[in-house]
Amino acid sequence: MSIQNRLNNIKKTCENCQNCALFERRNNVVFSNGKDSADIMIVGEAPGKNEDLTGEPFCGVAGQLFNDYLKKSGLNRDEFYITNILKCRPTDIERPNKDRVPKQEEINKCIHFLYEQIEIINPKLIVLAGGTALKTLTGKKSIQISKVRGQFFDLNINGKIYKATAIFHPSYLRQYATEVQKEQTLSDLGNIKRIYFSLQG
Ligand code: URA
Repeated sequence: MSIQNRLNNIKKTCENCQNCALFERRNNVVFSNGKDSADIMIVGEAPGKNEDLTGEPFCGVAGQLFNDYLKKSGLNRDEFYITNILKCRPTDIERPNKDRVPKQEEINKCIHFLYEQIEIINPKLIVLAGGTALKTLTGKKSIQISKVRGQFFDLNINGKIYKATAIFHPSYLRQYATEVQKEQTLSDLGNIKRIYFSLQG
């Protein structure tokens, strides 16, 4: 079966998923966008309001800022495969308009979709955007972006080793980052760009 068909099958399963309560409030499952044949995969945290309404990852305010950072670094997001740890927007029933961080039990029920995406895409580099992606995929609860950004490390996903790096999450860059951290992100994306071009041969 082709990569595209395999991904479509998982996407269909994901669209019918009722494994956690988030399915009751979702408008759309947000599976991925970008290139199925990408060498570089970007993993964010979870859909927000705009992503839930459109079904596209990183299409809201954080996504716009992310696009700007990529453009400034000479990168085009269409060249990547982009997805999230959670495929449904995390909110609480009492506050359905307020985004919140994913709960561990939601991650546990959803993460197999991401593992399958990674196995099929087989990326040469996984870029973890933000603490949730970093902590979840390294399995290290206290690891910090500010300590490991700029480094390249191995991720063991179901026994297979993938190269990875971590960058500050665009929402963090928008709201809290210092000028130094913004510069660091441009530098990190510059390194990712070099890898991207070296992979293109
Ligand atoms: N933040 C994320 O981590 N992912 C999205 O798709 C949108 C916002």
